[in-house]
Amino acid sequence: MTPKEIAHNLFYVGVNDRQKELFENLWPLPLGVSYNAYLLVDEKIVLIDTVEVGYADVFLKEIEGVLNGRAPDYLIVGHMEPDHSGSIRLLRRRYPKVQIVGNSKTFEMLEGYHGITSGLYEVKEGDALHIGSRELRFYMAPMVHWPEVMFTYDPKEKILFSADAFGTYGALNGGVLDAELDLAPFRDEMIRYYANIVGKYAGPVQKALGKLSAMDIQTICSTHGPVWREYRAEAVALYEALSRYEGEHGVTIAYASMYGHTEQMAETIARSLAENGIKPIAMHNVSKSNASYILRDLFRYKALILGSPTYSNQLFPEMESLLGKIEIRQVKGRLFGCFGSFTWAGASVKRLAAFAERMNWETVGEPVEQKQGLSTRQACRSLGKAMADRLNHRNL
Ligand code: FEO
Repeated sequence: MTPKEIAHNLFYVGVNDRQKELFENLWPLPLGVSYNAYLLVDEKIVLIDTVEVGYADVFLKEIEGVLNGRAPDYLIVGHMEPDHSGSIRLLRRRYPKVQIVGNSKTFEMLEGYHGITSGLYEVKEGDALHIGSRELRFYMAPMVHWPEVMFTYDPKEKILFSADAFGTYGALNGGVLDAELDLAPFRDEMIRYYANIVGKYAGPVQKALGKLSAMDIQTICSTHGPVWREYRAEAVALYEALSRYEGEHGVTIAYASMYGHTEQMAETIARSLAENGIKPIAMHNVSKSNASYILRDLFRYKALILGSPTYSNQLFPEMESLLGKIEIRQVKGRLFGCFGSFTWAGASVKRLAAFAERMNWETVGEPVEQKQGLSTRQACRSLGKAMADRLNHRNL
């Protein structure tokens, strides 16, 4: 690749990963992902973050392509998760004099992952680093998405280096800046990334957004996805909405079904929702849809309807697994409905209802429980209508 100058003396030196199947070995990457890193060339040369270790060679060549034999003076570590910190040891080997800039939590992880304990430059909230014609400022953003995360701000050029915040799945197809890219796939992928990776930490995200609101930011350089400039306000607004669990007008139906009977209930509920004016309706068979996408839609839409057969006097295992993933994220304010089926003794509906109670969600309509074949068509239709009425009359 050719290093790209994205602002005066600021070069993009990140890489695209179109090989990895699962991010964190959990979340599918059909469109790939980028690990973004940035190189600021002033009187001092400053690198901001590195990349996943499998791409270290490409990354080091990108840096050399800009520096022509010069060496970076500083590496700022915004986030220690190995998709960004994985190449630090190799970078240090290539540039032994590079000072590593981070906070005390960064350095504890740096020692644990890389055994690096020297050549460190510690910063705290609001500290500045003078690099020539500009100074960089540091702001802590703990738990967005790990405890050591910090933002770097360049007040002269009004650029924020935001670590994972405002990041998204999806490799960068040629362009780097938002205006150079087809953004349509990135909106979905940004919601999915938030739901999968950052979704548990709404409070810290709100706190970080509060800090940022006092700054004049013209460009946002995240560690994943496009550099936000023309659409920076949209990126911030999306994070605002997601971290408040706002939820758009729409319904997610996620169901398990072994032989199609619970699935028929799901279809009946969906038809009733549609006939009562609801769209979009996102439907997921939990045995087929990766939870990554169900979480995306859960964060996106205001209402969730879950259905499961009873399996060994429990929920269907994939449904149980989904509930665990939702519970970890402490998703708030959803409208909830549930349904399920059994052959000789029912347990699933009771368990789904108990889940909604734990989540403190509002249950809408009557839960529908069915013995064996499709005998609950009317009750399913009523559940769909009740949810539609609740959504249509709610000031969302
Ligand atoms: Fe992209 Fe939390 O690492």
